[in-house]
Amino acid sequence: MLFDSHCHLNDPILYPEIDRVIEDAKKTGVKRFLVIGYDYESSKLAIEISEKYEECYAAIGVHPTEIDKVSEEQYQELLSLARHPKVKAIGEIGLDYHWVKDPLQREKQKEWFIKQILDANKLGLPISIHNRDSNEDCLKILKEHKPTSGGVMHCYSGSVEMLNDIFSCNLMIALGGPVTFTNAKTPKEVAEEVPLDKLIIETDCPYLTPHPHRGEKNEPKYLCLVLEEIARLKDMSKKHLEDVLYKNTCHLFNIDE
Ligand code: NI
Repeated sequence: MLFDSHCHLNDPILYPEIDRVIEDAKKTGVKRFLVIGYDYESSKLAIEISEKYEECYAAIGVHPTEIDKVSEEQYQELLSLARHPKVKAIGEIGLDYHWVKDPLQREKQKEWFIKQILDANKLGLPISIHNRDSNEDCLKILKEHKPTSGGVMHCYSGSVEMLNDIFSCNLMIALGGPVTFTNAKTPKEVAEEVPLDKLIIETDCPYLTPHPHRGEKNEPKYLCLVLEEIARLKDMSKKHLEDVLYKNTCHLFNIDE
């Protein structure tokens, strides 16, 4: 059984076909899905999806590139929805210095990141972190404001060397499509080195489609390709790895196996 720990079934590219997308994923062994919000509407839709589909859970939060699109009133409304029984995380939240170069806007991203970590702590929920080209500030914030209910560095793209800092912040890492890319040196090293109890997997669909489907839209049905590549790199049976990752994901998000 597989658990897609970060997917955007609420994305306009996938949502119109959601029944077919979920059915195709189930045929490849994906049993559960954490649908991740990134702004007000997508977070509300994630909850709606989790209500309609038993196998889906929701994460709600404001992505660093979307902070200007969410009012304080809307954010408060999201927080009031965070006690919904199928909301299992706050996310995705974090920093994105790849798309945002303006120093003032980066400061605003930091404020939103900290605010959402503290609210997740109050709610007793883990966090799903987006971190792009912002390792230093991201780790600094996480060290100063530890996520007390844990969390995950989604689609981890950092080095092996950075792993211990991340684990010391009460976090796990998630690997996705990039670990399958033929030219992906660092994610493959990370997959080899990461301790099994600190790892989960994801698709981040519709983005980051695994090899050999790069260029197509991504779907949870391709999660098995991520599993296969990590099993190969760790020289481990797929079945064993699959069982461990499934348990890890349920444990992190407080979901009964
Ligand atoms: Ni995402």
